Amino acid sequence: GKALRVALLGCGVVGTEVVRLLSEQADDLAARVGAPLELAGIAVRRLDRQREGVDPALVTTDAHTLVTRDDVDLVIEVIGGIEPARTLLLEAMKAGKSVISANKALLAEDGETLFAAAREYGADIYYEAAVAGAIPLLRPLRESLVGDHVHRVLGIVNGTTNYILDQMDTHGAGFNDALEDAQALGYAEADPTADVEGFDAAAKAAILAQLAFHTRVTAADVHREGITEVTAADVSGAQEMDSVVKLLAICERVPAEDGRNGRGVSVRVHPAMIPRSHPLASVREAYNAVFVEAESAGSLMFYGAGAGGAPTASAVLGDLVAVARNLVGGTSGPVEVTYAQLPVLPMGET
Ligand code: HSE
Repeated sequence: GKALRVALLGCGVVGTEVVRLLSEQADDLAARVGAPLELAGIAVRRLDRQREGVDPALVTTDAHTLVTRDDVDLVIEVIGGIEPARTLLLEAMKAGKSVISANKALLAEDGETLFAAAREYGADIYYEAAVAGAIPLLRPLRESLVGDHVHRVLGIVNGTTNYILDQMDTHGAGFNDALEDAQALGYAEADPTADVEGFDAAAKAAILAQLAFHTRVTAADVHREGITEVTAADVSGAQEMDSVVKLLAICERVPAEDGRNGRGVSVRVHPAMIPRSHPLASVREAYNAVFVEAESAGSLMFYGAGAGGAPTASAVLGDLVAVARNLVGGTSGPVEVTYAQLPVLPMGET
């Protein structure tokens, strides 16, 4: 078939891996989609930076023109942050492009606006890479489990903090040294405050809660406590109790007295002591693990690389193939409905 043209917004840790995979896997991707995928342009903030494996002729600082260009079929956003990412995605969808985003902060703060635009303009929006890196988790919640009744989603969704806590536990490393390692390994956000203060995990928890419970939850609704107060003494205290400290994200339905949907949902992120015998205790380095508990499915466990360029790019490429197949077949992806609003209960009201 005719080539599908891809605009890439952002060329950092994840973006450069997307560029590499698009070129290295070009033949396989074309076979799976039924049409070649071509990079139409890459929008960056600064032109003066060297980017390995990136054709300088494709690079532009004019993202607004790129996303509305007639020869662009779909747009991948890996810039992060609220603006200009939101405006660019809205412009792209308005111009009829389907979009893929890895932007957890944006989806957690204002997913509603993006989903409304997707509905209005008939665009696909996929965002698997926004939560838990390479682990297929959003599509299972959005599609495979959408006929079930999810009670709880619980787990480790931030690689940087898990890496830090793991280094403190296994090597007695100091907090700051471990954080520097996590940054050097490409796990941390550009501003690592988002990781260590729990904002990144809270954004992911909001996205998971929305998909699991079909109700509107924003990052601001999430009770959030990071790991900056976790000391070496806390870690060794946990060890003495045959436990380990982990940063958990917990999303729960809070049933009414009669046992059904009733009272609302509780969404929270905080450090917790986990017994060594629990599967979450053996999640090491920057790995993530998430349990989903549903009425009919029972308990499911998702585990894998939750951060880093290549794992996150794998999720982006999966979305890219899904969107491209929809374009080739004249079909479209899952549509986010207007959410019912269950109350998000403050911490302690469960
Ligand atoms: N900074 C994030 C983490 C990257 O450490 O999990 C993946 O979203």
